[in-house]
Amino acid sequence: MSQLAIIGGTGLTRLAHLEIERRERVSTPYGEPSAALVFGRLHEQEMVFLARHGDPHINPPHKVNYRANLWALKHVGVTSVLAVAAVGGIRADMIPGRLVMPDQIIDYTYSRAHTFFEDDLEHVTHIDFTRPYSQWLREKVLTAAKVAGIAVIDGGVYGCTQGPRLETAAEIVRLERDGCDLVGMTGMPEAALARELDLDYACCAVVANWAAGKQAGEITLVEIEANLVAGLADLAVVLRHLIQS
Ligand code: HPA
Repeated sequence: MSQLAIIGGTGLTRLAHLEIERRERVSTPYGEPSAALVFGRLHEQEMVFLARHGDPHINPPHKVNYRANLWALKHVGVTSVLAVAAVGGIRADMIPGRLVMPDQIIDYTYSRAHTFFEDDLEHVTHIDFTRPYSQWLREKVLTAAKVAGIAVIDGGVYGCTQGPRLETAAEIVRLERDGCDLVGMTGMPEAALARELDLDYACCAVVANWAAGKQAGEITLVEIEANLVAGLADLAVVLRHLIQS
C-alpha cells in the first residue's frame, strides 16, 4: 500500500504490534503536532503512527493541533491516513464495541483552526468535500474486515461536536434529526485538512458508548473503556489484513 499513517484516538495512544524503528518530532509552520511521529513496521509493512491526543493523552479534542498533525504526516511522505476515533452510537445498529466506516460528516465544531488556505494566498481555494472520506481507502478497510471475518458497518453520518463534554440528550435528538448516525469530537477539521493536503483519508470509528439519552442512566468512563478495548481488538485484526492485502 502507499505510505500509510494511522492516527490513534482515545484508547489508542500506542499501537500494539508496531515494531518501532524511530520517533521524530516534526516542527511545522502551524506549531507542534500532538506527539512525535512514530515510524515502524506493522506486520512487516512500514508505517507511521501519531497519537492524536498526545502521548500521554493530554490534548482534549478542541485543543488538538489538527493542522500541525496533518502537515507533519504529509511532510514525511505519508499518502494515506486511517484515522481511528472513539464515537457515541446514535443509530440503533451502532452498538458499543462495533467498528464503523462513516461516509459522511456534519460539522458542529467552532473556533478550531480548520484550514490551511487562509494566509498569504495567491488565490482563494475551495476544496471539493462532497464525499469527505477516500472511497478507495474505505473500501480497502471494508474488504480487509470482510476477509478477517470482522463485522464493520459500511457507511454512516459522523456528527462532530465541540466537546470536551459529552452531549445532552436533546442535542443527540437534534443530531439524529439532522441525519447523524454517530457522534464524535475529532472528525473535523481533521478530514477537511487531509483533503486540503490531498491525502487519502478515512475514519474507522469505534463505538464507545450509546450517545446521550440512548440508554437509561449516565455514560460512564468504565463502559467507554470496556467497549473501546473490544472494538480496538477487532481493529487490530482488520489492520493485519489491511496491511497484508
Ligand atoms: N459523544 C461525543 N464523542 C464521543 C462520544 C459521545 O458520546 N463517545 C466517544 N466519543
